[in-house]
Amino acid sequence: MEVKNLTKKLGGRNVVDDLSLTVQRGEIYGFLGPNGAGKTTTIRMIVGLITKTNGQVLVNGIDADKEYSNAMTQIGAIVENPEMYKFLTGHQNLIHFARMAKEKITNERIDEVVKLVDLEDAIHKKVKTYSLGMRQRLGVAQAILHRPSLLILDEPTNGLDPQGIHEFRAYLRKLTKEGTSVIVSSHLLSEMQLMCDRVAIIQKGKLINVSSVHEMSESESEQTSVRFIVSNTVKAQDILQMKDPELEITRQSNELQLTLKHSDIPLINEILVNAGIAVYGIISKQQTLEEKFLELTKEGVTQ
Ligand SMILES: Nc1ncnc2c1ncn2[C@@H]1O[C@H](COP(=O)(O)OP(=O)(O)OP(=O)(O)O)[C@@H](O)[C@H]1O
Ligand SMILES: [Mg+2]
Repeated sequence: MEVKNLTKKLGGRNVVDDLSLTVQRGEIYGFLGPNGAGKTTTIRMIVGLITKTNGQVLVNGIDADKEYSNAMTQIGAIVENPEMYKFLTGHQNLIHFARMAKEKITNERIDEVVKLVDLEDAIHKKVKTYSLGMRQRLGVAQAILHRPSLLILDEPTNGLDPQGIHEFRAYLRKLTKEGTSVIVSSHLLSEMQLMCDRVAIIQKGKLINVSSVHEMSESESEQTSVRFIVSNTVKAQDILQMKDPELEITRQSNELQLTLKHSDIPLINEILVNAGIAVYGIISKQQTLEEKFLELTKEGVTQ
C-alpha cells in the first residue's frame, strides 16, 4: 500500500499533515504516536470512513479514489471496536459478515480463520461470554474473512493482558506468512518494538521518523555507557588511558565505566585481555527505544 501526501484539515488545522508512507507485502508496519497524533484519522482516511482533504491512497496499485470498491476489497480493518452481535455465537457472527462480503466466502474459509485466531473451542459460544481478547480475535477473524492483502488495526492490543498481547503477535505473524501486510497503530512503543518490522513515528499529524525496529534498537554508531568488570581496575584504567587519553573512564571497586561506541567494545576487551587483565563481564547500556521515542517526539514538538 502506498499513501501519498495524505492530509486532513479539521477545525482549521491539519490534524494529518502531508503524510506519505509505503507498506511492503508481508510486513507488519507500526504506526506509533502519542494521543492525538492523528493515527485514527489517518486510518479512517485510508479505509474511506472519512474524506481526505488531500492525498492519494493506492492499494496494490489501485487508486482508492478511482476504484474505491476494488481497492477496499484488498483491505480488512478494525477501526474502533468491531461491531458484533453479542447474543449470537462467534460462528454466527462470522457467517453474518461472510454474507455481506462481495465475493462468496466458503464454510471452509470460515473454519480456516477460526483456526488461525485460535478460537475453535469458543466459536459456538455466545459472544457475550467472550473475554476481551477473544473478542479481539473474533474481530481479526472477521476482518480477514475475505483474504485482504492488507489488514489495518487501530490500537488492537488496547486492554489486552500481556499473555493476550503475546498471542496476538503470534496471530499477526501467522498472517504475514500468508503474504498479508499489517498496519497496527499504538501509542506504546515497547509493544511496537516487539510486534513490528518497521515503525513510523507520527507526531502532530506529521511523519517524523520511519525505521526498522532493528535499526531503532541498535545504536551502533552512538556513544553508549559500557561497564567492564575486571580483575584489576587501577591497572586497566592506566592501560586504557595510555592508549587513549581522551577516553572517558570512571573507576569503581571492581569495574570501569566507559563512554564509547558500541562497535569499539571488542577492541577495548582485546586491549585489556592482552595486558593480562581478566574481564569478567561487559555490560552495555544502550539507549532504549523508549528513550529514542521520547527524544524524537520532543524534537517534533519544537519543530
Ligand atoms: N472532528 C474533529 N474536529 C476537530 N478536530 C478533530 C476531530 N477529530 C479529531 N480531531 C483532532 O485530530 C487530532 C488527531 O486525532 P486522532 O484521533 O487521529 O489521534 P490518535 O493518534 O488516533 O490519538 P489516540 O492515541 O488518542 O487514539 C486530535 O488532536 C483530535 O483532537
Ligand atoms: Mg486513535
